[in-house]
Amino acid sequence: GAPVQADISKLEPGQRMTVEWRGRPIWIINRTPEMIERTEALGADSLADPNSEVPQQPAYIQGDLRSIKPEIGVLIGICTHLGCSPLFRPEPNAEGVGVDNWPGGFFCPCHGSRFDLAGRVFSNVPAPTNLEVPPYRFENDDIIVVG
Ligand code: FES
Repeated sequence: GAPVQADISKLEPGQRMTVEWRGRPIWIINRTPEMIERTEALGADSLADPNSEVPQQPAYIQGDLRSIKPEIGVLIGICTHLGCSPLFRPEPNAEGVGVDNWPGGFFCPCHGSRFDLAGRVFSNVPAPTNLEVPPYRFENDDIIVVG
């Protein structure tokens, strides 16, 4: 499939938008400084693969936030368990997620898998790996090319 362009010029801090690439939903999240702080505070005590050692991202995607720019996250929005679409639950202690001290992230309603705002999978959920990061680059500050 051809690469797809996403215009993020209207993506407000704290919001998420979706584009389609190769028939799959691509989430683009504009993380606030506070969301970044909450995500970076997570580690091996809560995440199954905090350092993304299982290759679920291109080689140039590194670090806790799994992104080129800290604030902009790009993820394939498909649960790594059985392929449902997780829900965006970015706010701490959001209802319906089913855990105490929810730090914000994505929640899969099918079997309860949870991921942080960088797509890293929490421990003790059915999903075996972090969400995938697709290949992408910034054409300029407003345009991301996925694929
Ligand atoms: Fe997401 Fe099973 S498909 S938890």
